Amino acid sequence: MLSAEPPTRYTLFMSAAPQKTFYVETFGCQMNVHDSEKVIGTLVHEGYSQVQTVEQADLILYNTCSIRDKAEQKVFHRLADYKKLLAQGKKFGVLGCVAQQEGEKIFERAPHVSLVCGSASYRNLPQMLVQIEAGKRATGLDDRETDECFETEFTARTNPHRGYITIIEGCDKFCAYCVVPFTRGKERSRTSESVLAEARQMVDLGYSEIQLLGQNVNSYRDRAGKRSFAELLTAVGEIPGIKRVRFTTSHPRDFGRDIVEAIDAVPTLCDHVHLPVQSGSTRVLDAMQRLYTREQYLERIAWMKAAKRELSITTDVIVGFPGETEADFAETLSLLAEVGYDSIFTFKYSPRPNTPSLALDDAIPEQEKSRRLEVLMAKQKEIQIIRYRKYIGTRAEVMVEGRNEARKQWIGRTSQNKTLNFSAPEGAEPKVGSYVPVSITASFPNSLLGEMVI
Ligand code: 5AD
Ligand code: SF4
Repeated sequence: MLSAEPPTRYTLFMSAAPQKTFYVETFGCQMNVHDSEKVIGTLVHEGYSQVQTVEQADLILYNTCSIRDKAEQKVFHRLADYKKLLAQGKKFGVLGCVAQQEGEKIFERAPHVSLVCGSASYRNLPQMLVQIEAGKRATGLDDRETDECFETEFTARTNPHRGYITIIEGCDKFCAYCVVPFTRGKERSRTSESVLAEARQMVDLGYSEIQLLGQNVNSYRDRAGKRSFAELLTAVGEIPGIKRVRFTTSHPRDFGRDIVEAIDAVPTLCDHVHLPVQSGSTRVLDAMQRLYTREQYLERIAWMKAAKRELSITTDVIVGFPGETEADFAETLSLLAEVGYDSIFTFKYSPRPNTPSLALDDAIPEQEKSRRLEVLMAKQKEIQIIRYRKYIGTRAEVMVEGRNEARKQWIGRTSQNKTLNFSAPEGAEPKVGSYVPVSITASFPNSLLGEMVI
């Protein structure tokens, strides 16, 4: 059984004894956010209750990210900030990518920590909790050994309308800059049957939007050999009651045309693909070990542009990878214009432990990386202003996500994953989680504005 409202459900486990409490803070990507939902559910099942401040908690957990140096440093700052709380008998645990990457070194750097556990070991959390309660230290550092996924029926999803489902864990791609294959272990897919069962349970609980998650969803291989990724997408999209299906993240090398064909055939599959390119220069892509050329990437974009519905395309770009010249960077800029992205996430290259590119000379000065980042963002802003403007005068269906009281506006999201804020006439206020048509009246670089159609 899955739960939309964990606190109510778990009253079952309350006993006369005072409950152990935990606080969890999550850094990083959607995978981490969703892992935390699973960890929270597991802890609640083990008799803990979640609290919202470190002061109230017996156990303080950080679910960490190590994708870039800054993300990693945040964790150690947090641990240092709260060291004094140890005197009050509190216990600390480091979960996620920094835990896997640093392992037992964390105990040396932060001796007040008693639990260090990477994502590939979460299924052993109940045993580790017993150990730390007995005053011992516990580690879960399965590295690239495990073949198992962390599946639990106790996931404590916070949003009652849209939720994540992990379909594949780990990564076997080994891009030169990327720490993920080292922190999340080898690639392992769930069976499509267990994914579909979870999706159906979510629908029964009132969910209408599902986002399928994985470091590289395109390399999904059904363990039971029944469905390809495109077939899984189709099957999830065809579950009665599902209104929207999204997926993230994709790798261009494994992105097949069958995905676009599935989007064409199944109306619930959203009009949006996030396809990280990283660089527009084939030379840099080669150094990054991305396994595709600029031309091959553009071929996939051409498939998407030929789709029956207009698909929104978004991407990730890294600037300042070792050896990236001005000419390489100019190719990235020209790629932005050629594709016409609806949004991009931009990053300065950050050398990471264990990764192949650590051996390369990170010779591009920080200042130059910052300059390239700014140029890239300015270029993308120009592109987005034009792209968003063309929606003025059109209509889109939004899922209502909330209300901005200060602006007296409702917050909606389109199938293309764009934010569309809108007004609704008095007496016709929409419900959060419902889907309503909105007529678009104005555009901004990152959002649209409109009026609900009644
Ligand atoms: N330095 C900078 N950016 C990185 N990313 C991954 N690793 C690094 C790194 N070492 C970016 C990539 C990826 C996104 C999630 O983070 O663009 O797609
Ligand atoms: Fe960060 Fe990558 Fe780990 Fe996600 S998988 S938490 S982005 S290091």
